[in-house]
Amino acid sequence: PVAGADLAALASDPNACTGVQAPAKINLFLHVTGRRDDGYHLLQSLFVPLDWCDTLHLRRRDDGLLRRHDLGPALPDDDLCLRAARAFQQASGSAFGADIWVDKALPSGAGLGGGSSDAAAVLRTLNRLWGLDWPPERLAALGLTLGADVPFFLQGQPAWVEGVGERLRPVTIQPRRFVLLKPPQGLSTPQVFRALPASCRTPPVSCEAVLAHDAAADLCDLFGHNDLQGPAVALEPQVQQALDWLQAQGLRPRMSGSGSTVFAVLPPAHPAPELPAPWQDAGWLLRVCAMCSPYGAKLV
Ligand code: C5P
Repeated sequence: PVAGADLAALASDPNACTGVQAPAKINLFLHVTGRRDDGYHLLQSLFVPLDWCDTLHLRRRDDGLLRRHDLGPALPDDDLCLRAARAFQQASGSAFGADIWVDKALPSGAGLGGGSSDAAAVLRTLNRLWGLDWPPERLAALGLTLGADVPFFLQGQPAWVEGVGERLRPVTIQPRRFVLLKPPQGLSTPQVFRALPASCRTPPVSCEAVLAHDAAADLCDLFGHNDLQGPAVALEPQVQQALDWLQAQGLRPRMSGSGSTVFAVLPPAHPAPELPAPWQDAGWLLRVCAMCSPYGAKLV
């Protein structure tokens, strides 16, 4: 039994869902195209889900209580899993509650969307366990109130993203491997956005123009940049160290989201780099990931 749950028993419980995958994402590029009156930034980005995931198990409760149990590292008390469950309970009026077991693998403050991905996994699963059957658009609108990345994770396949994260267009791009390097220090998304110069604007580009590069070679080598990378490097020098290290391996790195993780396309013939032992001991994380499509959507 883990944290009060016998996972084998859970797996055969009709009121439970086990092994729900909450994937990481990277932003192949991230352009800030404008700013809304409420301070949120308008973006253009290409989001890609990866096969590096948190794992959640959920069981319906009849007493309306919502309880989170940490199987891996402890989450903050009021994390996005519980906030998502609470928001869904309120918005739907459901009398059910849930036990939510979280096996956290994704680092936080990483620009990988781990918290938003957990929230999306909770919404998708409770929609089923609570028998609500909300349509995807309604779930996405609720998800957006929890975080700008949640609608992306609800649909879970590579997507061209605009607005603050609510305008999504699923795209097919060639499968690639990526090497990700997460420095020990994380970054806070609001802080990075605050450090962005108010005048920062990248002119909008068309999705077709970007995807036209896909067949040629490395999409992110050829196109775009991350407008948040400069502010992130200024706030946290380890981001620049991470970029320099991947570059020294012959790769072309870029930061994901608001950092602090940086990534590069790993060409098929390129050996996976190995992190020096002292860096590992100091808490740096190196991970080779493939694109994934965890909810069964077709990738290519
Ligand atoms: O929505 P999320 O919780 O991920 O956003 C965290 C913070 O990042 C927001 O409070 C806002 O300051 C900033 N942000 C932004 N524009 C976006 C997304 C996030 O300014 N499109």
